[in-house]
Amino acid sequence: MTTAFASGHPPRRIKVALGARAYPILVGPGLLRQPREWIDAVRGRHVLLVTDSHVAPLYGDTVRAALSGREARTFVLPAGEPNKSLAECARAFDLLAGMKASRDACVVALGGGVVGDLAGFVAATWMRGVDFVQMPTTLLAMVDSSVGGKTAVNLTQGKNLIGAFHQPRLVVADTEALATLPDRELAAGLAEVAKYGALGDAGFLDWIDRHALALRTRDPDAIAQAIESACRHKAAIVARDERETGERALLNLGHTFGHAIEAATAYQRFLHGEAVAIGMVLAAKLSARLGMAGEAPARALADLLARLGLPVELPADLDPEVLLGHMRLDKKNASGRLRLILWRGPGKAVIVDDVPEREVLAILAAR
Ligand SMILES: NC(=O)c1ccc[n+]([C@@H]2O[C@H](COP(=O)([O-])OP(=O)(O)OC[C@H]3O[C@@H](n4cnc5c(N)ncnc54)[C@H](O)[C@@H]3O)[C@@H](O)[C@H]2O)c1
Repeated sequence: MTTAFASGHPPRRIKVALGARAYPILVGPGLLRQPREWIDAVRGRHVLLVTDSHVAPLYGDTVRAALSGREARTFVLPAGEPNKSLAECARAFDLLAGMKASRDACVVALGGGVVGDLAGFVAATWMRGVDFVQMPTTLLAMVDSSVGGKTAVNLTQGKNLIGAFHQPRLVVADTEALATLPDRELAAGLAEVAKYGALGDAGFLDWIDRHALALRTRDPDAIAQAIESACRHKAAIVARDERETGERALLNLGHTFGHAIEAATAYQRFLHGEAVAIGMVLAAKLSARLGMAGEAPARALADLLARLGLPVELPADLDPEVLLGHMRLDKKNASGRLRLILWRGPGKAVIVDDVPEREVLAILAAR
């Protein structure tokens, strides 16, 4: 049996420096089967393990075995974004109440971003906040949603409308869990990996470019290195701007376009990372149109994302006006002006207020 240590490598360790709330991210193969690496962070008598119906049969027993001796219950969410809901939170609260969980309870999230966001929100609100441990099992969750403390559930009126900032005590990213992840989900995570290079680190973007095939074919070292680098970028930004009053907004490169594409296709056609990939290309093309960057970097970014297995073209059937309408509703807009993250080239994203709508429309219409 391969383990993080048996394979000769201690887990990679990244620190999220948030003073008294600082926490480590552990990255490595077999970590879920190595409870000595993480069990001390699961404090308290009562533990609620939150997972989903796809992940529970794959990794649920492994984590549950490590929790023996605690009063632990498992809450299995039906898999899928529609279940990131208040109704499912209520079921989780019922379980916590049923086990008489108190302030020293711990919520453990084992799954993708849907599980992590919902479990985090439950942890943030049960008894006004209890311990929370993230065990992400999708690439997207390992490099993005499990780090940084944003938790949320959806309303029918929109995504992530109810939420809280609540940092985990620990993030455990077992890279072996990615073996069961479908290819499309892996590529969606790679879009977020590429985002960190695109927005703030030209050297990392170049590394991704050179390792695109290795990443797509799940070379373990390349994947682990990508997760570590992505987490280092996110950890640094979160440590400087936890509440997104400034720089953290750069992490939304491609997201305003992406959210509009997801909304215009009723969240059915594209995975979030796929919509973000198209969105990053649109942001790059818009930046070129506005004279902020040349067209060659935008073309190179689209080429890289395509080699990572991602869509990069806006589908012809999407109405530019409808997309713009969704973009106007974005949470990041300041007082009715269109605020976008634009791109001056590799490693250089910038926040721009008051982007002219006619220029955005021109990009959305150019196909
Ligand atoms: N909090 C944040 O900062 C943040 C950031 C980005 C995204 N998000 C949220 O994350 C969510 C998307 O996360 P996601 O892409 O992980 O989606 P997800 O949680 O829906 O997981 C994708 C699919 O993969 C399955 N799965 C998970 N791990 C698996 C594994 N190891 N093997 C096989 N199947 C597995 C899941 O059951 C699901 O069907 C969205 O709700 C989004 O809003 C949050």
